[in-house]
Amino acid sequence: MTILVTGGAGYIGSHSVLTLQNAGYEVIVLDNLVYGHQDLVENVLNAELIVGDTCDRPLLRQIFTDYKIDAVMHFAAYAYVGESVTKPAKYYQNNVVGTFTLLEAMVEAGVNNFVFSSTCATYGVPDSVPIREEQPQNPINPYGATKLMVERILQDFSVAYDFRSVCLRYFNAAGADPEGRLGEDHNPETHLIPLVLQTALGHRPSISIFGTDYDTTDGSCVRDYIHVLDIAQAHILALEYLLKDGKTDVFNLGNGNGFSVKEVIETARKITGKEIPAEVSDRRPGDPPALVGSGAKAQKILGWQPQYSNLEDIITHAWQWHQKRHQ
Ligand code: UFG
Repeated sequence: MTILVTGGAGYIGSHSVLTLQNAGYEVIVLDNLVYGHQDLVENVLNAELIVGDTCDRPLLRQIFTDYKIDAVMHFAAYAYVGESVTKPAKYYQNNVVGTFTLLEAMVEAGVNNFVFSSTCATYGVPDSVPIREEQPQNPINPYGATKLMVERILQDFSVAYDFRSVCLRYFNAAGADPEGRLGEDHNPETHLIPLVLQTALGHRPSISIFGTDYDTTDGSCVRDYIHVLDIAQAHILALEYLLKDGKTDVFNLGNGNGFSVKEVIETARKITGKEIPAEVSDRRPGDPPALVGSGAKAQKILGWQPQYSNLEDIITHAWQWHQKRHQ
């Protein structure tokens, strides 16, 4: 079986390539390398890398002609929530137009299995947590809106065409390969755990806590941190589900457990043994107070069993990677 992985040079994509390879799949990576890491694909994963964009229809046609692709896993997207507010066109172009171009090329080529990286950001500010799949989706930033639009396109495609998809709505991806081969390396970095660990390494003077006046246990925002390898494993299960004729569906990837920003910093202090200075700053626009997801449906239908659902493991693996990559 050959799987085309778009965005395979990125954080979640690269861990999923590793997991696919370990499960015996052939992988071809398509990545425009705007944010992805060529060295990880070529030197760590040893996967075939096609440098190109999902908006490039002739390139896609060529790929589907040259290779017999059984399914596509689509990670390629821009994912900076704050930037999506100031540069929405960039997000609609890449995340919606790029995905639509890919989907059209797939339908034309008769490739009909698709696993899509969606997000808890499609829910906006939830009316209750843990969030279940049937709760309303009202994104409060363009990033979430782009992902929701693709979800809608996928529903319509599966009604009209011989085409099936699984949307995986991730909560906060975190952690790294426990063997230290891969990890999170965004530039610029905006995510909490890597910024906390960069502070622990002395690369930043302090970590800012964005708001301590939320209606949460300690006033800071609460998130459900999911180990990147548990997300990768869910992709394999989603793929197997589709290959066994599973119907188009959506699943939350959440642990059902929320941790506040202050708890994350405290846990990181314990694991790293470093002081990690923190200061309180204003709320960040577009941040819901609490996002916690129920993974019950993925567990029941896909058989998903997260292996690393405690925050200590997640931060320990991320810390190993950060010390190696960023020392
Ligand atoms: N935070 C801080 N200080 C920082 C950085 C973050 O306090 O320096 C807080 C944020 O306000 C938020 C929490 O830490 O409450 C987590 O923030 P991240 O930026 O790490 O992640 P987000 O919660 O913003 O994640 C969101 C969505 C995901 C989406 C991701 C894309 O929840 O679904 O953005 O980058 F995929």
